Amino acid sequence: CKVVILAGGSSGEREISLASGEGARSALVEAGFEVSVLDPANRGDLEVLLGGSFDVAFLCLHGKGGEDGSIQGFLETIGLPYTGSGVWASALAIDKEKAKVFYRAAGIPTPESLVVTRDELVSVAQIVAELGERCVVKPNTEGSSLGVFIVESAEELEGAIDQAFQVGERLLVERYVKGTELTVAVVGNDDPTALPIIEIIPQSASYDFESKYAPGGSQHICPARLPEDIAARIREQAVAAHRVLGCAGMSRSDFLLDEDGVAWILETNTIPGMTATSLLPDAARAAGISFPDLCTQLIGFALE
Ligand code: DAL
Ligand code: MG
Repeated sequence: CKVVILAGGSSGEREISLASGEGARSALVEAGFEVSVLDPANRGDLEVLLGGSFDVAFLCLHGKGGEDGSIQGFLETIGLPYTGSGVWASALAIDKEKAKVFYRAAGIPTPESLVVTRDELVSVAQIVAELGERCVVKPNTEGSSLGVFIVESAEELEGAIDQAFQVGERLLVERYVKGTELTVAVVGNDDPTALPIIEIIPQSASYDFESKYAPGGSQHICPARLPEDIAARIREQAVAAHRVLGCAGMSRSDFLLDEDGVAWILETNTIPGMTATSLLPDAARAAGISFPDLCTQLIGFALE
């Protein structure tokens, strides 16, 4: 089976994607696959992809152009099977605002939010009235915490909105939830199952870009230190999110568990980070699945 890893791309998460591509490449080589790595941001690479005799594409692209349905549509058109979710689920999951509509329909709690665009500026007073002074400003369709600001006051809010507009055109302002960061990976197609929950302890005040990617920036505890019944409920919520968004192969949903035991879903990543120390491979290891085995399973789901 000839595998082509797609990594790089032109989103703000390009560097992370290249690291994911390298992580997946060594795992797939270890698993015995013949592997090439191509970057869709490179015209020449796209031509190799079109002309190549690959059996499956292993997607390690994060963010716009790679995780949002675009490359999935291209691969559908050229008839090359690929890992992970299809066009529609990818486009839906990357849009945090739209995904919330589906989470709510599935009964999964998600923090209240408002959308702010340059044309439809919601006033700071209205945001504060609806969500409170403490809130989170984030681009609606970015990953890796790029352009995410946690604000404490109405004054900070305005500045955060200006800065977030430099990263994305459509912003989501979300009610702040104080709680423990959890992430739950789900693998499978028709019968998806949740892997053990990971509890994330960032070294800084929040799980921002720095704590995600700097060495020692955060600590992962897997399985999370949770009572069995709460853990089971959160894993069910992650599977429900995977199902309601129509995900395939894999997903990783991020939650905040508040003091009252409510797990608020923030988002579902359809192409989670795939470096050897990333969350999905970590969760798989806790379930006794090595990184090469995880990659082999994902290829299996792509070819089902
Ligand atoms: N967006 C990053 C890659 C993740 O969710 O792992
Ligand atoms: Mg994300």
